[in-house]
Amino acid sequence: MQDFAGRVAVITGGASGIGLGLARRLGAEGMHVVIGDVERPALDAAVADLTAAGVDVVGVSCDVTDADQMQSLADTTMDRFGAVHVFCNNAGVGGGGLSWETPLSMWDWVLGVNLWGVIHGIRSFVPILVQQDAAHIVNTASVAGLVAAPMMGPYNASKHAVVALSETLHHEFAIVGTAARVSVLCPGWVRTNIATSERNRPAPAGAGSASDAGDVVGMDAEQQTELGRQVLAGMIANGMQPDDVAAQVVDAIRAERFWVLTHDGDDSWMRAVDSRLQSAVDRTNPQLNLLA
Ligand SMILES: NC(=O)c1ccc[n+]([C@@H]2O[C@H](COP(=O)([O-])OP(=O)(O)OC[C@H]3O[C@@H](n4cnc5c(N)ncnc54)[C@H](O)[C@@H]3O)[C@@H](O)[C@H]2O)c1
Repeated sequence: MQDFAGRVAVITGGASGIGLGLARRLGAEGMHVVIGDVERPALDAAVADLTAAGVDVVGVSCDVTDADQMQSLADTTMDRFGAVHVFCNNAGVGGGGLSWETPLSMWDWVLGVNLWGVIHGIRSFVPILVQQDAAHIVNTASVAGLVAAPMMGPYNASKHAVVALSETLHHEFAIVGTAARVSVLCPGWVRTNIATSERNRPAPAGAGSASDAGDVVGMDAEQQTELGRQVLAGMIANGMQPDDVAAQVVDAIRAERFWVLTHDGDDSWMRAVDSRLQSAVDRTNPQLNLLA
């Protein structure tokens, strides 16, 4: 897609971080913007900021884990603007711990937002995108969709699935001959609010406790989550700015580029991806090169 002005973009998780950066950038390109988000005060603040910046924006309360709410986001957009040209399947949350000690409620929540949210987005928006003369879907995965660091089981599983689903869509679009294109966004560290994802986590329903497995790292599941949050906060503090990620996404849409590996110059990420893929080809055991 080359021309953005006057066309319509929808962004899930658009009230903060990368999603808000995308909303700012796509709005600056002259698109009508719809942001869907579960955090109402942040959504209202984002709409106010974008409006003040001259963007024609609509905010819609939407929990991406719920198929009906995603469909309602699509219906509201169609009622208002009659089309969708760019759909950013971006809402996501972080969470993990030792895979066998991670509570079911954590698995449900992270997979619910990061994977089911993307599935719901595909089901509600791709039927609209394939009817346009130019359209693009951007699925936000992560470098965690290409490498598998420890203590991030639910997050890694969700993001690997988003990469796989995106490649699947790319091939399916080719088969059906649509003008729609796909990109998968795989950022490294980005300075956002992801370390406080728990702010949007529904209260676990009773049986969300950790597994009965032995406490091998001397921390219960909640302590592991808190440690993970602190490590993540430290990592993203010096991360890329969301606006720089958004600029790369717009470039990728224009170039019809599938892979958006934002931290291209950061050779430790690329080395980790390369080493992981090569170990599969060579049948050697995985090495952890992430922080090298
Ligand atoms: N920040 C990073 O370093 C980084 C790196 C790689 C990938 N990502 C991915 O980028 C995406 C955006 O995250 P971010 O870093 O901007 O974090 P963020 O917390 O700043 O933004 C995430 C947004 O998603 C919204 N959200 C959470 N649960 C939701 C739900 N159930 N329904 C609708 N909206 C929901 C939040 O309210 C928030 O506005 C995520 O998919 C994340 O996994 C982030």
